[in-house]
Amino acid sequence: MILQRRNRINRSSAAIRSMLAETVLTPSDFILPIFVTEGEGIEEEIISMPGYYRRSIDKTIEEVKEIWSMGIKSVLLFIKCSDHLKDNTGKESWNPDGLMQTAIKAIKDAVPGIVLMTDVALDPYSIYGHDGIVDPDKGIIVNDATVEALTRMSLSHAAAGADFIAPSDMMDGRIGAFRRALEENGHSNVGIMSYTAKYASCFYGPFRDALDSAPGFGDKKTYQMNYANRVEALNELYNDEAEGADIVMIKPAMAYLDIIREIKNTTTLPVSAYHVSGEYSMIKAAAERGWLDEDKAIIESLTAIKRAGADLIATYFAKDAVKLL
Ligand code: PBG
Repeated sequence: MILQRRNRINRSSAAIRSMLAETVLTPSDFILPIFVTEGEGIEEEIISMPGYYRRSIDKTIEEVKEIWSMGIKSVLLFIKCSDHLKDNTGKESWNPDGLMQTAIKAIKDAVPGIVLMTDVALDPYSIYGHDGIVDPDKGIIVNDATVEALTRMSLSHAAAGADFIAPSDMMDGRIGAFRRALEENGHSNVGIMSYTAKYASCFYGPFRDALDSAPGFGDKKTYQMNYANRVEALNELYNDEAEGADIVMIKPAMAYLDIIREIKNTTTLPVSAYHVSGEYSMIKAAAERGWLDEDKAIIESLTAIKRAGADLIATYFAKDAVKLL
């Protein structure tokens, strides 16, 4: 054949492929989610997330030091609240001496440069396992009272030294309420990474095991988005932009690459994506059976998420990915 164009030329060696790669992962792309639990010297593997751990604060600090030395710049903190502290107000979530606040201070003391992000939602603190305050008679999650509670929680994280708060609750008006409260309380330097388009997804299953936070009744479909919807994500984006979000996040990631791209094409804000627990566990489970090459699956997945438009990726594979790069 005499061809005018031979596209394979640009793929013909590892060197040319590397030169022409449109998407390249780097350690500073990643945010590592971290699960903190009470106690000392504790490192418990999460059964549905093989190779991933809940740690007490002392062990968490060792981990954060290690990932910082690997070039990972950010962690996203979650805590496992003891059962006796759970209620329907979430008041433990703004306890200045609570597990989250203590962990924030300890991590910032040990690794001051780390970009410390904190989860803001009531589910770990809720006897109902919901992200907000429940009206038990009506069986609904009450929006405005929840935003009030989450605002107190956000301020307590800021006071403890968080760099970004990351609300994962999907209540209406919370970004504006947090921004105003941060401004009014001397925390104008604290950012908000909003879970802008967070879908009601079965892929959070292993995470709920990790924090013992599965909803006690019903599901989260009256606040998290319907996975059938794309345009609705833009509504959430417009609100979050207007209300003062600094980073907008899409969650989950792999099944939502179209949403990541849609939001990336629509906003001038940085975009992040959360490669969630179920996405981690799927790869782990298939690899354990020898059905997938784990290392290749990690890098391909994360590259695809970045290619779709994510400037940042929250992923349980952050350490593995950096080792593989
Ligand atoms: C709760 C929260 C969830 C995740 C992050 N924050 C679970 C949920 O909404 O039920 C999921 C993270 C993951 O699955 O990795 N506010």
